[in-house]
Amino acid sequence: MQFPTVEQAVEYFSSAKNGRRNIDDSFWICDLGDAKKKLDMWNDLMPRVTPFFAIKSAPHRPLIKLLTDCGAGVDCASQDEMDIVLDMGLSPDRIVYSNTSKQISHLLHAKELGVKLATFDSREELEKMKEFFPESELLLRIKTDSKESYSDLSERFGATIDDSFGLLDLASDLAMNVMGVSFHVGSGCENPAAFTTALSDARRLFDYAATIGLRLETLDIGGGFHGTRNKSPSVEKFASVINESLKGLFPTSEYPNLRVISEPGRYFATGTFSLVSTIIAKRNVSRNEDYSLIYTTNEGICSSFMPVVGCPIPDIQDISILDGDSGRKYIKSRMYGPICSNVDVLMTRLLPEMEVGDRIIWKNTGAYSFSCGGRFNGFGATVFYDIATSDITPTRSDTPTSL
Ligand SMILES: Cc1ncc(COP(=O)(O)O)c(C=O)c1O
Repeated sequence: MQFPTVEQAVEYFSSAKNGRRNIDDSFWICDLGDAKKKLDMWNDLMPRVTPFFAIKSAPHRPLIKLLTDCGAGVDCASQDEMDIVLDMGLSPDRIVYSNTSKQISHLLHAKELGVKLATFDSREELEKMKEFFPESELLLRIKTDSKESYSDLSERFGATIDDSFGLLDLASDLAMNVMGVSFHVGSGCENPAAFTTALSDARRLFDYAATIGLRLETLDIGGGFHGTRNKSPSVEKFASVINESLKGLFPTSEYPNLRVISEPGRYFATGTFSLVSTIIAKRNVSRNEDYSLIYTTNEGICSSFMPVVGCPIPDIQDISILDGDSGRKYIKSRMYGPICSNVDVLMTRLLPEMEVGDRIIWKNTGAYSFSCGGRFNGFGATVFYDIATSDITPTRSDTPTSL
């Protein structure tokens, strides 16, 4: 459905149950217009890089369909994720199986379905691929400097550059088909220079591979891009660093057939979704000097706000009351999520005074929220309303590409 703004959509869907069990249940708004704008922006900023949406961040079919209809591929980590996109009709060559610790049954499933492109970062995983899927097409995942990222993925994943030479030797001995190099600078990256270092490491490996008879032609630059304007570095900054490094290290004159893909999750997921919760309880605590009002809302750290895995409680500028806050008194308050635990604290700060039944809109909450959250204590939104606040028609330049 078309709406001029997310707020107008929230007003419309709040006014009746609209498929929810109760009128005051929380719900999600998915604004596909935002996702399409992000994709257009990506294509303008990084024309050499095809995004493969990391569906782990927000496995919502209408979003996946929009992005893949417009030419994106997808990054999957498991059998279920592959099934979601293959059931939607996506060709297996538009999937990268980017999990370096694969469950054997999932790997066999990938083989059966023809999902060949997959990452590895160790001798053991390489041997697993040789045993169970010798025809796979491999990307060697290397470590990056991801310490300045919200999730320091290289603390766990990726081979060191020193180990990588030996892994290429082993892949060649095993006659495995190595297609290229992949990396991830960490989710919520703060340091664009991490791309420069990783790309120059990748170039060293491309050069070494050529000396042992391996012809690499795929680069997978992972994810790490922010999904909102109020977080820096901006995607423009990342794009300029990536484009410069690609131009210097992988010039098209030397690499005319290089395929560059990326695995953005947060970038597409964050702004596309807004969560709408309801104030379900209010209590005065008049003798407490830190705050004098306690609110409970029906979303919290066990449903949609999962700071550990990547969905922090939103910044205050992303939170609003549906009916506005004009005329409301500001009072030092604490807001809890719904679970029966003292740890479900969402914020303690000056808040406009609210009443039971007021709706709160939490913008920019799509990434790693509903994909990670559960329904502990029976709370958490399960209903999504798909809307568009701007045109989502694929343009001719969005033609899907195969690998
Ligand atoms: C292998 C891999 N690719 C892509 C992503 C998506 O990263 P982001 O959401 O930072 O773009 C992740 C996130 O954990 C990941 O582990």
